[in-house]
Amino acid sequence: MKYQLMQLNVVGDKRGKLISLESHKNIPFEIKRVYYIYDTSLEQMRGKHAHQNLEQLYIAINGKCEVILDDAITQESVWLESPNVGLYIGKNIWREIRFFDDCKLVVLASDYYDENEYIRDYGEFLKVIKKNNDE
Ligand code: TYD
Repeated sequence: MKYQLMQLNVVGDKRGKLISLESHKNIPFEIKRVYYIYDTSLEQMRGKHAHQNLEQLYIAINGKCEVILDDAITQESVWLESPNVGLYIGKNIWREIRFFDDCKLVVLASDYYDENEYIRDYGEFLKVIKKNNDE
């Protein structure tokens, strides 16, 4: 699975709404790390990298963001604008993110932070994908 939008089940009543995220239940991997991005601005894109060994799930819990996903063949733009929608992103997907309306983005990750598994150069990303396809 390269990437996929997922509806997250909402438990709601008059006190508000609640969403629960559980490894291997509604999240398709073991959650080892959670981080969040806030104080975002329209001018500043983030991402511009791929991960060789990491799966992630993005949730815009406030505002909205556009995630441009690139598997080295096609590019697709996906909008996140609801706390009950998650975007699963598998390995080896180049992503770029643009933020709107004070977006707050929660990210679940399948492993601890490791700068060595990042691909931060687009040319290098294309080479890695080609090498994987040739093997
Ligand atoms: P960066 O990868 O540039 O953020 P983004 O994925 O949003 O483009 O990370 C910004 C800085 O934060 C960089 O110095 C690495 C550090 N960082 C951590 O220390 N731990 C983490 O879990 C993450 C995602 C980043």
